[in-house]
Amino acid sequence: MSGRLTIAIDGPAASGKGTLARRLAAHYGLRHLDTGLTYRGVAKALIDAGQPLDDETIAEKAARALDLGALDRAVLSEHGIGEAASKVAVMPSVRTALVDKQRAFASAPPGAVLDGRDIGTVVCPDADVKLYVIASAEVRATRRWREIMDGGGSADYAQILADIERRDARDMGRKDSPLRPADDAHLLDTSEMDIETAFQAACKLVDTRLAARNEN
Ligand code: C5P
Repeated sequence: MSGRLTIAIDGPAASGKGTLARRLAAHYGLRHLDTGLTYRGVAKALIDAGQPLDDETIAEKAARALDLGALDRAVLSEHGIGEAASKVAVMPSVRTALVDKQRAFASAPPGAVLDGRDIGTVVCPDADVKLYVIASAEVRATRRWREIMDGGGSADYAQILADIERRDARDMGRKDSPLRPADDAHLLDTSEMDIETAFQAACKLVDTRLAARNEN
């Protein structure tokens, strides 16, 4: 492979984009950043400090202070932190601070896979391959519910579905960098597709892009 390879993966909560991103990064020897963790990290820092989630000055400060190397997936992946993250994610100065860090991550060799909501549209508009991963809200709620139950927790399916629908509406409806597919993104519907099938489909797209790049 010559040059840097950047893969952008976007999609709503629990669409399967994170699992796909990790597998692609391992397969192509790339670094991986789950950008959702950066918004979750800011939300968690504010909650821990007893600060409000809607004060832009305080939130921007927390975003600028965030260390990408210190993001703890086990702590941050808690369902409730996702809801708080989507609140801090509507603030433009929080986004600017985090996007700067995400771009710095993406630009280091040998390239990277980034997943989130605005990777193909805002963070890495020149990515080599853009995927937009979707699944019905019901399928995504079932996945999240099963994840929590398998982890020994307790969860209410109807509540999770309502949370997912509320988060979709907030992510798609915000003014700054709303969730939407880039014009040149490939759509991957995982509603009736297991992760292996989705992974194979994504690899095909990446391999085609790499072959075309090597010809030029
Ligand atoms: O992907 P995850 O569920 O961890 O993201 C948490 C929240 O962070 C999302 O609901 C969204 O509001 C925000 N986010 C974002 N832009 C990204 C990644 C996440 O606005 N690139």
